[in-house]
Amino acid sequence: MIVYALLAVACSQPDAPPATETGTPSVVETGDSGDSGPVPDDSAITYYEDIRPIVDRACARCHAENTQAFSFNDAATVVGYADLIASETAARRRPPPVADRTCAAYTGDAWYVSDDDIATFAAWAEANTPLGDPANASPPWERTTIGPYDRTLTMPQPWAPTTDNRYRCYELPLGNTAPTYLRGLEVQAGNESIAHFAVVYLLPPGVTTREGRNPQGYDCGGLGEPGWQLLTGWMPGAQGLKFPEGSGLPLPADTRFVFQMHYRYTAYDAGSTDQSALGLLLADSVARPITRLDLGPTGFTIPAGDPNYAETTEMTWTSPDAEVLAVSTRMNHLSAGLEVTAGTDDACVARYTRYDAFSPYPILLQEPRSIRNGDPLRATCRWNNSDTSPYQMYHPPQDARDGVSNDSETCKVTMYVVPK
Ligand code: HEC
Repeated sequence: MIVYALLAVACSQPDAPPATETGTPSVVETGDSGDSGPVPDDSAITYYEDIRPIVDRACARCHAENTQAFSFNDAATVVGYADLIASETAARRRPPPVADRTCAAYTGDAWYVSDDDIATFAAWAEANTPLGDPANASPPWERTTIGPYDRTLTMPQPWAPTTDNRYRCYELPLGNTAPTYLRGLEVQAGNESIAHFAVVYLLPPGVTTREGRNPQGYDCGGLGEPGWQLLTGWMPGAQGLKFPEGSGLPLPADTRFVFQMHYRYTAYDAGSTDQSALGLLLADSVARPITRLDLGPTGFTIPAGDPNYAETTEMTWTSPDAEVLAVSTRMNHLSAGLEVTAGTDDACVARYTRYDAFSPYPILLQEPRSIRNGDPLRATCRWNNSDTSPYQMYHPPQDARDGVSNDSETCKVTMYVVPK
């Protein structure tokens, strides 16, 4: 991220819209269902009653001890950052993008920062950061897990990055002699000061990784290699993907996963090592086997300079009535978001209005979306390949192609569907 942030500064481009004005707090009407309610009048906004709950649900998973950003655990730090928090959230530069909960309720959607939350930050800074009553403090944020796991596949050796922005790939065999079912999976980061985000793929039979089962892993590209099937991703605080009771994804004998870690590194991290793991929930049989669908577009070229290029792919569900359980996504630098819909009414299943490296964590729908035989499933991926893209690498911009090298683009959308 550091590299990207520097690039953004170097190009001195404004960040992506939409921005909300700071200063005068106002209730922004967005039709934002599930919001935290109207913004109270300024004088009533305090740290303990109003700010801390937002920070705990939307920031603490990265801004705590032993994570990748400075801790927001004490009132004084948050007070000190009040103006910057107000301006950074208003410009939608912080926090990093998460899926839009106005599309669908999903596991982890408390991370979403609404316009009302942003107005609350602004009003609190404007009112000179009153603290309120510590007795009203919410309990501190705690990590949740889908464990205990049935199996844990660990990076065979610890790894120590020595430069920033490194991808490291590991081929991890499950070692199963018989077919089995995947009930859930979760990345267990070893050292969150350097483990930045991760992506997990399935290797279909016959598909290999460039360096096979090198126990030290190997430096790899960020977009995988041909044939790798996206399963899910991880970012700090992300809970794993656990399918609803009785459902599971069929895995053939000799299943192999690819575990792709992304590391950040600064001078403070010298000597730090990481040994992350993949926790698995498995079952010999399930009542409802899951179908994994790849929905994203391929073979596209995003024209140089185009600020709003979109590719829509569509697939028809041609089996008995079913339910969409979850979605995983992966895009690259130039992403301007994506939307996944299901059914003739194009019901929203997953949507990002901004997207960055932190975004490929699992979206498990709180209410599975019903689909019927003949229904369309659609994915629309958007890119900004103009000078205004915050992560634009080329000035002037160049055509960007679907591919696997770090300067190409991708839009992988995995949908998990199960019979009713
Ligand atoms: C997914 C991880 C993540 C989440 C969630 C997150 N941040 Fe951050 N934030 C970072 C990182 C990484 C940095 C850079 C830290 C550093 O430079 O040491 C940062 C830096 C910041 C900064 C300093 C910016 C600057 O220019 O110095 C502010 C302000 C900030 N975050 C606010 C927030 C707020 C407010 C939230 C919640 C509403 C939040 N962040 C949630 C990862 C996160």
